[in-house]
Amino acid sequence: MTWLITGGAGYIGAHVVRAMTGAGERAVVLDNLSTGVAERVPEDVPLVVGSTLDRGLLDRTISEHEVTGVVHLAAKKQVAESVELPLLYYRENVQGLRTLLEAVVAGGVGRFVFSSSAAVYGMPDVDLVTEDTPCVPMSPYGETKLAGEWLTRAAGRAHGISTACLRYFNVAGAASPELADTGVFNIVPMVFEKLTEGAAPRIFGADYDTPDGTCVRDYIHVEDLADAHLAAARKLGERGPVRDLTLNIGRGEGVSVREMVDLIGEVTGYGDRAAEVTARRPGDPARVVAAADRITAELGWTARHDVRDMVASAWAGWLLHHPEARRG
Ligand SMILES: NC(=O)c1ccc[n+]([C@@H]2O[C@H](COP(=O)([O-])OP(=O)(O)OC[C@H]3O[C@@H](n4cnc5c(N)ncnc54)[C@H](O)[C@@H]3O)[C@@H](O)[C@H]2O)c1
Repeated sequence: MTWLITGGAGYIGAHVVRAMTGAGERAVVLDNLSTGVAERVPEDVPLVVGSTLDRGLLDRTISEHEVTGVVHLAAKKQVAESVELPLLYYRENVQGLRTLLEAVVAGGVGRFVFSSSAAVYGMPDVDLVTEDTPCVPMSPYGETKLAGEWLTRAAGRAHGISTACLRYFNVAGAASPELADTGVFNIVPMVFEKLTEGAAPRIFGADYDTPDGTCVRDYIHVEDLADAHLAAARKLGERGPVRDLTLNIGRGEGVSVREMVDLIGEVTGYGDRAAEVTARRPGDPARVVAAADRITAELGWTARHDVRDMVASAWAGWLLHHPEARRG
């Protein structure tokens, strides 16, 4: 079997490529390097530079590499940018997926894993978000992920392709410093940036209906997430009926923003900088925590790494790019 991994030069994709090839699967990466980095792709894995919107390139890649399964991670992922540029997000994330699925159908590929997101749920008003919690995305980004799931499932049913839509919660950490996320779009790097600039980390709202008043989220180590892709790919490869899985990938454990900021201070040695509480950001739900039991039942997967592992490995990556930030 050869797996086509789109977006394999990105942060999560590079971890998925390693998890899959490390377990003996063959892989080929297709990535347009818009945010990806070619050096993240291991030397023995072929890298095709190009877009999921390029049908001819997709057809050639599937045929030349004898692709039998796809893990589709290539997408734009910034919520705020998607509000400014919805047409770009629908083109890259939905049209790119549609073009890829056409090539998959034409090439007779039988397995398809789609990168979805907890953003499909929007502002869920439940203690634990199950896969059956209604999806009401709050941004064009979340909409493209929900539309992507619909498209994936519909194509799977119509054309006999086994599919898995994986809804990631908050991804953090790195398997090694070079593979760390270099963007500053979520809480961990945002706090690193503030602390190492000599500024106070910011907490947006401490008056939520949560134990310490700050928002609660579910964090997942990117290595665990990559292992979940391997488990999903293997499940789709098993003999049996055409499969149609939709699975949360989280730890099922809530961590508050205050707890995260305190932990980051402790791990980095910058714990002396008190956080500054500012107004709530519009659209931030109080609590988003996964019910993570369906994936364990379906795939036998559970997370191994805790939040401290995520912060420590992300910090090692941050120091690689900002060596001046090292302290005592
Ligand atoms: N990082 C998170 O917290 C998170 C959470 C939920 C879901 N996701 C999803 O996981 C996937 C990977 O995210 P990431 O954090 O690794 O982001 P990333 O930006 O590091 O990776 C995306 C990769 O896709 C490539 N790409 C983008 N558009 C492309 C296109 N049209 N054709 C070919 N390549 C293209 C980019 O160059 C990049 O290498 C995305 O689908 C994202 O929506 C990420």
